[in-house]
Order: sequence, then structure tokens, then C-alpha cells
Amino acid sequence: MCGIVGYMGRSDSVSFLMEGLKRLEYRGYDSAGLAVHTGDALAVRKCVGRLAELENRLSEQPVQGRSGIGHTRWATHGEPSEINSHPHLDSSGRIAVVHNGIIENYQELRDTLEKQDHVFRSHTDTEVIPHLIEQERTDGAASFRDALLAALRKARGAYALGILSQDEPGILYAARLGSPLIIGLGENEYFIASDVPAVMNRVHGVIYLDDGEVAELKPDGVTVFKLDGTPTTPEIKTVDLQPEAAERAGFETFMLKEIHEQPRVLRALLEKHLDHANRIALPEIHAEPDYFRNLHRVMIVSCGTAYHAGMYGRLLLENLTGLAVEADLGSEFRYRSPKIDQNTLFIAVSQSGETADTLASVRLARDMGCRILAICNVPGSTLVRESDGVIFTDCGPEIGVASTKAYTAQLLVFALFSIWAGRLRNEISSDMEQDFVRALKRIPDAIHYVLERDRVIRDIADKHHDGPSALYIGRRYNYPTALEGALKNKEISYQHAEGYAAGEMKHGPIALINEYLPVVCICTRTADAVYEKMMSNMKEVEARHGRIIAVATDGDEAVLKLAEDIIYVPDTREELSPIVNVVALQLLAYYAAQARGTDIDKPRNLAKSVTVE
Ligand code: M6R
Repeated sequence: MCGIVGYMGRSDSVSFLMEGLKRLEYRGYDSAGLAVHTGDALAVRKCVGRLAELENRLSEQPVQGRSGIGHTRWATHGEPSEINSHPHLDSSGRIAVVHNGIIENYQELRDTLEKQDHVFRSHTDTEVIPHLIEQERTDGAASFRDALLAALRKARGAYALGILSQDEPGILYAARLGSPLIIGLGENEYFIASDVPAVMNRVHGVIYLDDGEVAELKPDGVTVFKLDGTPTTPEIKTVDLQPEAAERAGFETFMLKEIHEQPRVLRALLEKHLDHANRIALPEIHAEPDYFRNLHRVMIVSCGTAYHAGMYGRLLLENLTGLAVEADLGSEFRYRSPKIDQNTLFIAVSQSGETADTLASVRLARDMGCRILAICNVPGSTLVRESDGVIFTDCGPEIGVASTKAYTAQLLVFALFSIWAGRLRNEISSDMEQDFVRALKRIPDAIHYVLERDRVIRDIADKHHDGPSALYIGRRYNYPTALEGALKNKEISYQHAEGYAAGEMKHGPIALINEYLPVVCICTRTADAVYEKMMSNMKEVEARHGRIIAVATDGDEAVLKLAEDIIYVPDTREELSPIVNVVALQLLAYYAAQARGTDIDKPRNLAKSVTVE
């Protein structure tokens, strides 16, 4: 969950380290630090809090050097404190390490090292790594590299590491096992980073390190080898992200920028998947049509917002393909005894492609014989590399911790995939496909329309933001929308929010309703099967003086009688309405958070990508 960067080249490393860390701050932000090889020694600067604190520290105590490593932390072992922030050093202060991941056997290693007189300063799992390397050196490893490899062979768990040795000023080491790490290739300069946006304006190519690989970066090149020392030939990939993709482009936050990017992102995604006859094309699935015709079952697994996308996918796939479809959370699925086999398609949904529970579930499903299809945003991510086929969401970097454009893109991918598979399995006709395609083409404009209601939504948020709690209800396709709206609200505004299936109201949550409780009711499309049911739920809330905020279809006057506030959205086919409706809820959460004065892009206790369990 932490962000790591490193530099080896002919310029001063510090400006890149700070710039790269700023781009990775979404990965963790409770403390930060760097270590630079000054030519004579390792200089370390670190502090608690945001990067701005580290900047202040550097202006008081400047440092320079042609190689360096940096870290922005999301605490796992040990509270956020200066002592626990990275880089960590060995006993002699000659080896510095930054780490993302968890060393699972750290206690055992630490106990052994302490018996060998190593003195630990922090409460982190990471600190065992520099001490282990130091010990391997003491025990006679022929070189620093040999000591590093021997140390890593003893560490269990997950790591992405950047390592500097005072005794080797011209070398930066990097290693990966289960946590993402890339090597950036620039002009006579080389970089390491947790994610491509950190380096994208400085490199012409990247290497995605594989699990169990170690890289040696020198001013004149990079070599990669395995933990047993055997060299490998890494594949160099080009970077086609534009540096502006990682900038705020005039918006006050990344989240607001990303909310506003949705019409463009979805239009491009749709165009990419329509052929010349306006039919849906998904060549990247890499499976024979017969595979889908003979399929029995689909299992969708994901976490957080991506899980809500999975719930939507379950409904739509079930409806359009006739397949038995199940959706589950990665953190639950991995501990089940699922009944899946080679006739089950396993769909993993993840913006980052690095979520630990999703990846563990993928590995379980693979072991049980399933074919793996990923819906993912990050090329080169672990999920992409471990899947048989990938449909990319193609959103560009999503930097705000709260997922927005990745979610609507995941929903759109599920819509495309369900229609495509439905036609292949003869569950829907070509005419029906064309109806869907026409409706899909209207989605970007419909979202644009919602974005233009920004002022109305802000006023509603201003009115309701200061209560202790809010309830979100919806049915069928918009039940996941209710869950997602509540999640957005709680994660960025810290207002307690519950999402519920509206049909469950009488089974408990109706007890919450009083004259103070805002109840967000998603009640679009008067023609939909569940519209009348939603109206009944709203009447129940109204009768108990709850404060209804309705998301309703333009022109629906019946809602006026029940709701205190209404966010009107364009009429959209029921199956696709969540893609539009959720945008209203993203903005509602956004302005509630703004009114409550939170740090919207970096909400407390959260990190963008949850790479540990
Ligand atoms: O990268 P992933 O899509 O796998 O991440 C899953 C969740 O951690 C993520 O959606 C999280 O819930 C977001 N903060 C929600 O806004």
C-alpha cells in the first residue's frame, strides 16, 4: 500500500524522489522519507505526516546525491511515527531499505537477529531486511549482491524493495515478490517506482519486475536476475501515458477531475469495443466462442467499489446470458470452499490489479481449473499478468483514493461483456444488441447532463452533510448503486452511511428513520419493474418523516410529492441506469466531504491500493 521510488543516474536524485513520491502519495500518506547516497555516506531524512513535512525537513537539512530511494507510508506494522517511517537501516547505518508489502516471518527473523546482537530501532517488519543483509555479509557472503539474494531467500511474505548500500555508491537494487515494482528506463538515468505515473515524464520504457526478480541499476544500465542469481532477459514495455494524466488539470482535487473525465473515458471505451457494424467486439478475451457457449457458471470476485461493480455484473450477466452467476468479496471468497471448476469463468475486477484479496482469490480459482478474465485498469499489473484474458477499463491513472471513473468503466465493461456473451449464447438477438448499443451511446451525454447539475447537487449536500448518518436505498440494478453511493460518502466525508436493498427496509433499517435522517432513494425510470416498489419504500420513509433525497428521472413529478430534494437524471435504460445514477451520488459525496472539510483525495486511514490482507 506504500509508495516507493528510487533514482540512479547522473543528476541529483532528490528532485525526482520528491516529484515521484508526490505522484505516489495516493498509496499512503502517514509518513515519508528518503535516503540519498551523497558520495561518501547515506543521508536519511524522514518525518511523520504528508510529503509537505518532508519538503520542510529537506529545506532545513538539504541533501544531494546521484542515487536515492524514497517512501510514502501506509502503516501496517508499527504506528505512524518518525522511527517507523522508511527508509530503515542496518545496525551500522550502511544499508538503507524502503519497502512496500509485509514480511510475514519478520518476528522469527528479528528474534534470530537480535540474538546475533542486531539492535532494532522500529516496530516495523521492514527493518529485518537491512539487518538480514548485514548479517549475510558478516557471515561471509562474497558480495553485497550475494548477501542481498541470501537475505531475500529467507524472507517470506510480500515485498517491493529499494535498497542502497553505502559501500556501493554506483548501484541501486530493487526486488519484487508479490508487491508491484517497475523499473523506468530514461536517458542515462534509471528509476524504480511502485507505479508508472511516478516516472512517466522521465522514461521511454519500463520493465515490470516479476515475482522473485532482483534488479541492479547502475548509471550505465540495468540487469535483472532471479533470487538464485541466474540472469533474466526482461521485456521492455513502452509507456503511453501522458504526463498530464497524473495532473489535476485545474480541478481542485483529483477526485473531481476524475468524476468529470467519465464522459470522455466511457465514450472512448465504447468506441474501442464497437466494430464497423456497430456490434460489440471483445477480441482481448482470448477465448473460442465455443468456450462461452459451453460455459456453466461465472464467479465474479473483487473488493470495495469493484465489488459493487461485480454485483452489478452478476445481475446483468445472469439476465442477458442465462448463466448461473455469483459475485463475492475477495476477502470472503479466498476462505470459502467454492464449487468451481474448468466450466466456471472466474472474473476478477480491480482498478489497480494489485489488491491482495482479489489476487489470492484468482490463484485459488486457477488452482481449481477456472479460466481467469480480468477487468482491470492498470497494464502490467499482477492481475493482468496472471489472467488468461483482460478487458481494460482504459481510464488512465485514477489517483483520488475514492474510485469514480474506474467504477463506471467497470460497469460499462460488464454491460459490453454481458451483451456480447448474451448474443454469442443466443440469449439475446442482434436487434436487442443494437438497442443496447444505441442506449450505451447515450450514456456519456447522460453523465455530462448529471455533471451539469453540479450546483443543485452541491446545494443538497450542503443542506444534509452535517447529520451523523445517511441511508442509501435502491433495488435490483440500483442496489449496488446504493451501496456504492454510501461507500463514497463514508470514505471521503466520514459521515456514517449505510447502503441497503430497499426491499429490506421493513426487515430492520426502517427503525432508523426519523426527521433527521437523510435517505437517498434511487428511484429512476417510471417504466421499470421496480419503480413502483421504490415509490412504496419512499412513502414509508416519508410517513416516518425521513428526509428523502431522490435520484429520479427527468420529468417524474410523482417524486416531487415525496422527496425533500431531487437530483434529476436523464432517462436511461434500466439495466444501464447505474452508470449514470452513480455519478450523482459521487458528486453528492464529494460536496458533503467538501462541506465537512476533509482531505478528499487522501481520506484518513485509506490508501489507494490495498496490497496487503
Ligand atoms: O484496485 P481495486 O479496484 O482492486 O481496489 C478495490 C478497493 O480497494 C477500492 O475499490 C476501494 O474500495 C476504493 N477506495 C473505493 O473508492
